[in-house]
Amino acid sequence: MPEIIPSINVRRFEKVQERIAKVEPFARSCHLDVTDGIFSKHETWRNPVDLTQLKTKLFVEVHLMVEDPEKIIDSWLVEPIQRVIVHIEAMKNPEFIIRKCRATGREIGFAIKPETSVDALTPWFSKVDLVQVLGVNPGPSGQRIGQEIFNKIADLRIACPQCRIELDGGVNRETIGQTVKAGADMLVAGSAIFSLPNVEKAIGELRQGLL
Ligand code: DX5
Ligand code: ZN
Repeated sequence: MPEIIPSINVRRFEKVQERIAKVEPFARSCHLDVTDGIFSKHETWRNPVDLTQLKTKLFVEVHLMVEDPEKIIDSWLVEPIQRVIVHIEAMKNPEFIIRKCRATGREIGFAIKPETSVDALTPWFSKVDLVQVLGVNPGPSGQRIGQEIFNKIADLRIACPQCRIELDGGVNRETIGQTVKAGADMLVAGSAIFSLPNVEKAIGELRQGLL
C-alpha cells in the first residue's frame, strides 16, 4: 500500500509542532518543507536548532529546497530527522551529501523540480534511498500538479523498477489514483490534509483514493 505523508509547509516553528501533533495519530511519517527564499522565493521556517524541542514518534523527513545544501546539511542531521531530501538542481557535490547522510545513519533522497528531466536522477538510483518528483514548483502548498508529471513518474518507474518513488505536491483526492497508477509509492500531501478541519477524515479520504 503506498504511503501518504503529510507535508508541513509553514513559516513558524510553533505551526510545525502544531501540525505534527495533529497528524501524529493518523500517519507514520511527516514531511517538513524548508525553503531559503533563494532556491524558491517562498519562505518557510528553516531553523534546525528548534528541532531540539520537537518530540514525535513519526518518521520525519526534511525536504531542503535550498541553494548550496552542502553548506547547511550538517545542521539538519539531527533528531528527529531521519531522512533528508535534497534537490539535484541545487547540489554541487551530491557524493558529499550522500556521505554526510550515511555517516549519521540517515536516509537520503534526491529530488527533481517539474522542469528537470528524470535522466538527472539515473546515475543515483542505486546510491540513494528514494527519488522524489516534485509535482509543483518549489514553493507553497496548494499548487496544482501538471499532467506531464504523471508521465514523468511512469518514465521513472520504467527506468527504475526497484526505486522508491515519492511524489510531492498536488496530491489530492482527484489526482492520487492516477499518481499511484503511474508508479509512485510515497505520496506527500499538504493542502489536501491541512486545509480541511478534520485531518483524520482528510487522510482517510486520500487512502480511499488508493483503492
Ligand atoms: C512544494 C512542497 C510540497 C508542498 C505540498 O514546494 O515541497 O511539499 O508543501 O503541498 P500540496 O500537497 O498542497 O501541494
Ligand atoms: Zn516538499
